Amino acid sequence: MFNKFRKGHKPLSTEYTKEEVLQHPIPEHVAIIMDGNGRWAKKRSLPRIAGHYEGMQVVRKITRFANELGIKVLTLYAFSTENWKRPKQEVDYLMKLPEQFLTTFLPELIEENVNVRVIGNRDQLPEHTRRAVEKAMEETKHNTGLILNFALNYGSRRELTYAMQEIAKQVAKGQLAPEEITEDVIASYLMTKDLKDPDLLIRTSGEIRLSNFMLWQLAYTEFWFTDVLWPDFTEQHLLQAVAEFQQRGRRFGGV
Ligand code: IPE
Ligand code: IPE
Ligand code: MG
Repeated sequence: MFNKFRKGHKPLSTEYTKEEVLQHPIPEHVAIIMDGNGRWAKKRSLPRIAGHYEGMQVVRKITRFANELGIKVLTLYAFSTENWKRPKQEVDYLMKLPEQFLTTFLPELIEENVNVRVIGNRDQLPEHTRRAVEKAMEETKHNTGLILNFALNYGSRRELTYAMQEIAKQVAKGQLAPEEITEDVIASYLMTKDLKDPDLLIRTSGEIRLSNFMLWQLAYTEFWFTDVLWPDFTEQHLLQAVAEFQQRGRRFGGV
């Protein structure tokens, strides 16, 4: 709607080709809040877990396409620290998904030089879930292609709380002076310490909120929201998000 009238910009409804998008700089780090699996299932009178299964297939498709586009880091919000509140049956299923995903797709990911990583607290995951993700991380740790970073049992406030505790311990021991706590020091205590901040954040399903996702890291990220439910998300939607990102003027506070 709005973009349609901005000078030189294609209307939002425009279809973009990969070739077109590849003519301009590609966001290096794309983060996605994959939302709407439950509503997708409900619309079809299916149990919510059917939506999660379908969502997993989309993760595979979008990972492959992100790699083709030359995106360097793809962070996917898969399970938040608040998602434990859901019915046990749903949580149990969500905890089986990483295993299912990795058992099915790990050989392909290795073949495609993908480096699997996880942010979030792994200690609280069921043993079988933790083993699956750690195996994938181990087997892909030397891969130099796309970094596929799952946010699993991740919550930004918990991440920041933990960072503050660790920094406070350093100060208490006399190993760090309060004035030495810089932005870089704080960033180095976050789970994303080896990654640059996201350039582009996508959230599906029409919700316009962050739901405790990467509060520090998203300070200057471009946001792209869509009503599309995650299981309906396609390569074309990613192209649209990237194309619109390419049309934004990022100023980082400058002029
Ligand atoms: C996103 O879909 C997946 C997770 C949060 C695990 P939802 O399960 O939140 O689906 P909706 O938002 O209820 O439709
Ligand atoms: C955010 O989605 C978490 C993930 C996508 C994993 P939610 O569905 O949990 O978020 P709210 O509850 O709508 O804010
Ligand atoms: Mg949701």
